[in-house]
Amino acid sequence: MTFKDLHIISMKSFSRDMIDHVLNTAEMLEPIARDKTKSDILKGKVLGVMFFEPSTRTRMSFETAMMRLGGDVLSLGSVDASSIAKGETLADTIRVVDGYTNAIVLRHNKEGAAQLASEFSSVPILNAGDGAGHHPTQTFLDLYTIRRESHLDGLKIALAGDLKYGRTVHSLCYALSLYGAEITLISPKELRLPAEIIEDLKSRNIKVTETEAIEDAIEDIDVLYATRVQKERFPDPAEYRKVANSLLITPELLEKAKPELKVMHPLPRTNEIDPRVDNTKHACYFKQSFYGVPVRMALLALVMGALE
Ligand code: CP
Repeated sequence: MTFKDLHIISMKSFSRDMIDHVLNTAEMLEPIARDKTKSDILKGKVLGVMFFEPSTRTRMSFETAMMRLGGDVLSLGSVDASSIAKGETLADTIRVVDGYTNAIVLRHNKEGAAQLASEFSSVPILNAGDGAGHHPTQTFLDLYTIRRESHLDGLKIALAGDLKYGRTVHSLCYALSLYGAEITLISPKELRLPAEIIEDLKSRNIKVTETEAIEDAIEDIDVLYATRVQKERFPDPAEYRKVANSLLITPELLEKAKPELKVMHPLPRTNEIDPRVDNTKHACYFKQSFYGVPVRMALLALVMGALE
């Protein structure tokens, strides 16, 4: 199995064996991230970082991953301070940046942007989120978190919140189907998971249940994966206000859960998780952010051909 020069655009390109290989590589590299030490696996390599939308975790964990493996980071910086502000196209920008770097991490507001970039790039493109489309490196770290903190085989998981616009759950649903998870979808009807994704899950013999109330699922699940209502993706602000506070996870709600239930969230959170949950044994979302470092180390080392 080789990942060298592979573009990471969507989880749909990955088999279960390939995903397991990334997770195993991340586990091998985790001590470097945990001990905050440095290796020279990527010495001499340069990672291009291009973010057209805000980010804290994805950008900083990629940068941390690259630096911990001994490589360097070259950032486009603010889009307004680049020649994109003069009208340069994404295709031309990518053709320029690929001459400076060994791989490019790209976050863009337009669905399909990472795919387009991959068609113009001679170095691997890692999709760090394209509009409401895909966020595959988040899915790898979500799977890693579930494997480290719970279990992937025989998993019962509820995905709650904005299942319509939340790109992390779209990628995660597909990946969970490879592990035969039982999935409960919890959202107001305005924010349901797109019908084609539900149909795709069912065609893979995945048990999918839909409800509007967390209480219907809380007693039976191993992982509760919450997502933020994606304000920036609503065409009409009035529609956003109607559903803005439709999900709230509290310690009182979690009293009904299994003791080993893990609450995950890709972050940032807005109002979905009461801060009192942070001090319970269920809170897993800050560990989840940390796991972004070993997982992105693994992806960078694999696509740059430093590890097999
Ligand atoms: N989870 C995630 O993508 O966070 P950022 O938007 O901060 O990168």
